[in-house]
Amino acid sequence: MAVYSIDIVFLAGYMFSFIYATMHLSAHSWFYLSILRFASLIASQVQLNPNDFLIPISIRSPYLNAWSRGNSAMNTTESFWTGQGRAWIGHIRVDGQTFQWVGDAPINSTNFTGVQVTPTKTTFFSQAGPMNITATFLSPIEPQDPVKQSLPFSYLSFEAVSTDGAEHSVNVYSDIYGGWVSTNGSSIINWNTTQNAGSTFHTISLQTPRPYTELDDQAEDVTVYYAAPSSPGLTSDIGSNGASPRIIFDNQGFLTNSAGEGSGTIANPFPVFGHAVDLGNITHTASPIVWALGVVRNPSIQYTTPDNQIQNRSPYFASQGDTIDEVIDSVLNDFTSASQRADALDKKILDAASSITSNPAYAGLVSFAIRQAWGASELTLSLGNDGTWNKSDVKMFMKDVGSSRRVNAVETLYAALPAFLYVNATYAGYLLAPLLEYQDSLLYGQPYSARDLGQAYPIASGNNAVHPQGVEQSGNMLIMVLAYTRIAGDGTLIDRHYNLLKEWADYLVSNTLIPTDQETADLERQANLTNLAIKGIIGIKAMAEISQVLNLANDSVHYDSIATNYANQWQSMALSKDQTHLVADYGDDGSWTLAYNLYADRLLQTQLVSDSVYQLLTEYYKGLTSSSVATLFGLPIDSTITTASANSAWTMFTAAVTTNPAVRDILINAIWAHASNSNNSSPFPVQYSLENGVVNGLSSPAQGAMLAPLALTVPNITITVPAASNNIDGGGGNVTRNKSIIGPIVGGVIGGLALIISIIPCIFFWRRRSTSRFLTPGSYENYEPKVFDITSTALLDAEHGPYNGHGSSTQVDDAGQRIMSFSPGAPADQCLIVVPSSKAMEAISRNNAQAAALNRAQYTDPAGVSSTSFSGNSDREERDATTDLPAAADVRELRDEIENLRRVVLGIRVERVDAPPTYVG
Ligand SMILES: *[C@@H]1O[C@H](CO)[C@@H](O)[C@H](O)[C@H]1NC(C)=O
Ligand SMILES: *[C@@H]1O[C@H](CO)[C@@H](O)[C@H](O)[C@H]1NC(C)=O
Ligand SMILES: *[C@@H]1O[C@H](CO)[C@@H](O)[C@H](O)[C@H]1NC(C)=O
Ligand SMILES: *[C@@H]1O[C@H](CO)[C@@H](O)[C@H](O)[C@H]1NC(C)=O
Ligand SMILES: *[C@@H]1O[C@H](CO)[C@@H](O)[C@H](O)[C@H]1NC(C)=O
Ligand SMILES: *[C@@H]1O[C@H](CO)[C@@H](O)[C@H](O)[C@H]1NC(C)=O
Ligand SMILES: *[C@@H]1O[C@H](CO)[C@@H](O)[C@H](O)[C@H]1NC(C)=O
Repeated sequence: MAVYSIDIVFLAGYMFSFIYATMHLSAHSWFYLSILRFASLIASQVQLNPNDFLIPISIRSPYLNAWSRGNSAMNTTESFWTGQGRAWIGHIRVDGQTFQWVGDAPINSTNFTGVQVTPTKTTFFSQAGPMNITATFLSPIEPQDPVKQSLPFSYLSFEAVSTDGAEHSVNVYSDIYGGWVSTNGSSIINWNTTQNAGSTFHTISLQTPRPYTELDDQAEDVTVYYAAPSSPGLTSDIGSNGASPRIIFDNQGFLTNSAGEGSGTIANPFPVFGHAVDLGNITHTASPIVWALGVVRNPSIQYTTPDNQIQNRSPYFASQGDTIDEVIDSVLNDFTSASQRADALDKKILDAASSITSNPAYAGLVSFAIRQAWGASELTLSLGNDGTWNKSDVKMFMKDVGSSRRVNAVETLYAALPAFLYVNATYAGYLLAPLLEYQDSLLYGQPYSARDLGQAYPIASGNNAVHPQGVEQSGNMLIMVLAYTRIAGDGTLIDRHYNLLKEWADYLVSNTLIPTDQETADLERQANLTNLAIKGIIGIKAMAEISQVLNLANDSVHYDSIATNYANQWQSMALSKDQTHLVADYGDDGSWTLAYNLYADRLLQTQLVSDSVYQLLTEYYKGLTSSSVATLFGLPIDSTITTASANSAWTMFTAAVTTNPAVRDILINAIWAHASNSNNSSPFPVQYSLENGVVNGLSSPAQGAMLAPLALTVPNITITVPAASNNIDGGGGNVTRNKSIIGPIVGGVIGGLALIISIIPCIFFWRRRSTSRFLTPGSYENYEPKVFDITSTALLDAEHGPYNGHGSSTQVDDAGQRIMSFSPGAPADQCLIVVPSSKAMEAISRNNAQAAALNRAQYTDPAGVSSTSFSGNSDREERDATTDLPAAADVRELRDEIENLRRVVLGIRVERVDAPPTYVG
């Protein structure tokens, strides 16, 4: 067992010393002092001193995700989460003198006085001579209205008040540049300016957009809008070099409304797109001056449907049928209400956060995190065959921002879940729906849950890969599905996908108690991981609860007794001999682990793990936080992981289940120290080494975990199960849905084939370093703001570091061709080239027709109304048992046939495991 030296530094005489006493103090401790001092000024809103750490400003989609780093000279540099510049500039003229109030340019800046971050707003305060200035970035979260939630628009608003009571002449200006459209500065963009009665906006897009393609994590198919409400004082222009609107505004305080259509490259001549407002002589702005920035894509997601059709899905707001002019008018008209709704949501969340703990660090973390979680997703609809929007087909897609391009990455969703459960659990259902739908189709063939829906956001192609995270991901899915069902009160998903969930539960029954060759989402793979085992056990218990909701008593009793039995065995194996802590893996008495998966036990109130375990763990973690394994930034996830890697999401899950508020707050403070670490040049990363500063998961939606303590307070509501299933089950309550093995087997065969086809485009190559493609700015009008530097060692290390297994990405080569790439160290099983034996291929093709025929019989609609032959709703299997199934003998025969097929497929899997991966390029 490791010997931990005790290293306690007391902050003598300081009232909060208990918080710091258990963490190593460093130069960053000034930061605590400043928040604690300011926190009392505005109850539960966090006042920050932003010197040199990154603050989220506008995060509304994976492609509208901007952060700011400021300094006391109010030279804020706005950047995409990758660190690529996203110049967003604000200038003001006060009595003829020009200052900058947002951005970074070589003119005099306003004097910074503070910045405040709430869940939806980031507000910078500064002074320009005799005027106090407030600049607010609003990233709405609209849980009540899917139309508004799906609008990828963010607001910037400006207010000013005279500090000497006298009137002053004020003109205000803001612009963006072409870098919002692409990070390739030599790309040609088209632009235009539209002046309507309600709004005036600039439109910017690539001359040759590339659908569903990313370059340096930025979509190459966006249309960017920069809009302002039309008013007599508004002037708008586009220009570059000497005709840059920035220069014209600085000199005269207004622009000429001369812009029209044009085109050119982004970086040279560096056109900027500005709007100026002449406020005249004022003592204060009567109402905020508003700009709206939209980064719009339509279609937004390419989804593979269960019957293997490619479907282009649109943002939900497209269902309104509005022109973009109408959309922009409504966005701008809505500003006042949107801002009020945002204030109400902020208040609700911050009040709730302060009822968890008065520690302002917690309010700060929640404020950062919600935007990251909700803003990594896109809410979509499909167009029906009849040309109308199918509003019952709402699906949400989350990019694994900061870590990879994976679509709805299951462990990231699991970490982010509290942010959705707390704000509106319905959206958790929108995120789970496509994962369940795909895996309940013939396209999927594994007996455990997939890790994601594809590796190249925004392409949700599905992912049928064999992988070693069966326990991890099946547990995650069962836990998430039950949490969603209870908190949203919606039994639709469990009803529709019952047999799929059961299949995963059965997989857990066989694999979770003594996990052998299982990997966690943190890429740990030693046998007998206690924290992984308990997740699977909780997953089995979740299945018991799911069965219970559907009145399937036999299943419920079955899974319940297994879960209870396993939990008891687990407890005796997982605790150290001296009963002081959880070991990392059974029998390894000197090891320990953060038991973050116990969060699911609390969330689902499974009572599987006794309270005494929570108490002893709390005591143990308290000891750890004052030992040498702790740093100011917290604890590693366990004693066995290399380079002492910490994970803010798992640390918060652990904090949420501690039984002592003081210990919880120590962990919260550590995460906040990490989030506000001025040495950390990247936006709130979820994974970080406590030893060498390597980070991964920049701006990750996994930070939704910061709401973990809040999600524990959300009540259940009565679960409504769709009427159709009640009819079929006859409401007798004693109908047992015996698991049919046919569906999964057929799925396995077809899925295996799909895998063979889908892996062909996989080519390994070393990920090219992202480098800024902009020319070095030579003159003021072309001034490209500095970007925060994560491209040096931090990014390199993030790619090569301990977490690189998730660092896959798609790059575009010079010919514009999509190439799937994996960073070195990615698990090879993601992209093996499988060469099936000719015998296997023959067997598959011979049996395919039979399998499909069988499947059609299986999936015939019970009412016989519509024949959705490949709908893949396997829960319908048993319903069909009363109507359409072939005679028992036929079924047996088919089962035998299928069993043979399954062996063939298993054979393929074995061959795949044995075959060396093929590398190309
Ligand atoms: C900054 O302000 C000073 C003092 O008012 C003025 O002399 C100088 O010209 C200003 N600089 C710029 C670049 O506007
Ligand atoms: C900023 O503060 C300094 C020192 O008080 C002052 O000289 C300067 O004029 C201020 N600048 C602005 C833009 O208000
Ligand atoms: C949650 O979201 C759904 C779908 O957008 C909406 O219908 C419902 O009213 C929302 N509930 C709350 C409490 O916001
Ligand atoms: C201007 O800002 C300063 C610093 O935040 C503040 O002390 C002062 O009260 C403000 N004045 C007005 C009129 O808002
Ligand atoms: C540019 O905007 C004008 C005014 O709204 C419009 O008439 C014109 O069609 C637009 N041009 C393009 C290429 O969209
Ligand atoms: C895992 O734990 C079980 C039960 O304690 C034990 O029998 C087995 O040997 C362990 N496996 C390894 C690889 O340590
Ligand atoms: C939620 O439902 C479960 C199962 O019915 C129950 O055990 C639990 O106590 C409920 N929790 C709340 C907060 O109502």
